[in-house]
Amino acid sequence: HPIAILISGRGSNMRALIEACARPDYPARIALVLSNNPDAPGLETARAAGLATLAVDHRDFKRDREGHERAIDAALREAEVEAICLAGYMRVLTPFLVKAWQGRMLNIHPSLLPKFAGLHTHERAIEAGETEHGCTVHLVTDGVDEGPILAQAAVPVLAGDTPEALAARVLEQEHRLYPQALADFLAHQ
Ligand code: GRF
Repeated sequence: HPIAILISGRGSNMRALIEACARPDYPARIALVLSNNPDAPGLETARAAGLATLAVDHRDFKRDREGHERAIDAALREAEVEAICLAGYMRVLTPFLVKAWQGRMLNIHPSLLPKFAGLHTHERAIEAGETEHGCTVHLVTDGVDEGPILAQAAVPVLAGDTPEALAARVLEQEHRLYPQALADFLAHQ
């Protein structure tokens, strides 16, 4: 199954997916890594891994979010991908791209949804006094971080946790969860 990965930054979840796709028995191959940010460090990681990359800079589409997404959509179709993994893609999508890829677009979110949709999840989990936190892979729908949940992984929140320490504990689980959730998803296609 050819897939695309959309990133905006570091790309550590992308790296976990790259590593999974390198395994001979893994059901996906990465046809394209696409970023809205030409300076995303993850693009360099992807190139170093020999993958096709593309930057579609949102700043070239001032006030035209849909125009930006039409350019992305064209690239995804050109690459003939069957599914898309958002991996630290930091732009909220418009209904255009969501509808175009409904049921075929996955996202990873650093909380146990439906708790803590949106940003700053680790700070908010600590402030709320949660004893458990984690990450979720879900299908992308119109509501931000609201789509059907495919998989979750939990970690404990420890006494004295900082957002950074908690984020690192969750990230380790993200890197395990995303490749597994994608494989399960593709197996049921
Ligand atoms: C991850 O925590 C992901 O869940 C969130 O943004 C972060 C991206 O990290 N949406 P990376 O770019 O995959 O390293």
